Amino acid sequence: MKRRAAICVLPFLLTACAGEQSVLDPAGRDAQVLSDLFWVMLAGAVVLWLFVNGLIFYVTRIAPRPLGRRAAEALIIGGGVVFPTIVLGALLIYALSEMPNQRASGEGLEVRVMAHQYWWRVEYWPDGASEPVISANEIRLPTGQRSEITLNAERVIHSFWIPALGGKTDLIPGRQTRMSLEPVRAGQFRGQCAEFCGESHAYMAFGAVTMPPEEFAAWLEAEAAPAKPPEGNEATRGAALFLSEGCGACHAVRGTAASGAVGPDLTHLASRRTLAAGILPMEKAALRDWVSDPARFKPGVEMPGFDHLTDAELEALASYLMGLT
Ligand code: CUA
Repeated sequence: MKRRAAICVLPFLLTACAGEQSVLDPAGRDAQVLSDLFWVMLAGAVVLWLFVNGLIFYVTRIAPRPLGRRAAEALIIGGGVVFPTIVLGALLIYALSEMPNQRASGEGLEVRVMAHQYWWRVEYWPDGASEPVISANEIRLPTGQRSEITLNAERVIHSFWIPALGGKTDLIPGRQTRMSLEPVRAGQFRGQCAEFCGESHAYMAFGAVTMPPEEFAAWLEAEAAPAKPPEGNEATRGAALFLSEGCGACHAVRGTAASGAVGPDLTHLASRRTLAAGILPMEKAALRDWVSDPARFKPGVEMPGFDHLTDAELEALASYLMGLT
């Protein structure tokens, strides 16, 4: 009996019912609709379950035997057809009326997201901008208004999902898909690739930050600015190593000679909450380990390891990168 109870409780413990990656703790208008749908569906399912089990209990334990033909027919038609049809029909009508309309409305800030193996390029296109503000692996959105997200993928299908803000939308190579999101409160959330895309699919996450519009505007302006020059001897040595080791062939650090577009833009790397697309904390030690051997954390990653560097060199590189706020 105890074991059966434990098995019944387990799914609820395993479900992330709250926190920064939960549909059931909504922070966006679309996620609110999904959360409402879940609870109404659950309530409908509970009513049906109780009713059907009540009938079974009645027939097996309470009803006089043998059960007359009339009574049996009434039970089967009423309990097995009419009642479920009414409940399921009501749920269907409710669900269809509440389907969140995530199709792009054409309004608000345009954010373009491109999925790579296994990271995200993020471009912000404010009204009238001739070139985007480029970032990676973290998406920021203003609260209280809709933002339009256009999605594309480099090589295989991925899926863009921030459970706390709304539903998911696939990113398909060669085809643009769109969705729109409207955060209702400021906070920090987690997004995740929701379509199997290769060996590191599970490690393809991203940060999502929602901010009041004025704060967002200030952040976007700072994000558009070039990188701060390195401060101190170690960071300056790291900046030189960054270029001499060829990091700039793949990564851009605006304001320096590094202008690669193969990997994530690192101009304001250290202002992001996570490293390596949501899988490591933005800390110097993690950064050093990542640069030394990325495949240890993310199998199939395209970035080569730099384990030929000495500890002092890795430390200098990490100092430089941690200064890119
Ligand atoms: Cu990208 Cu799964």
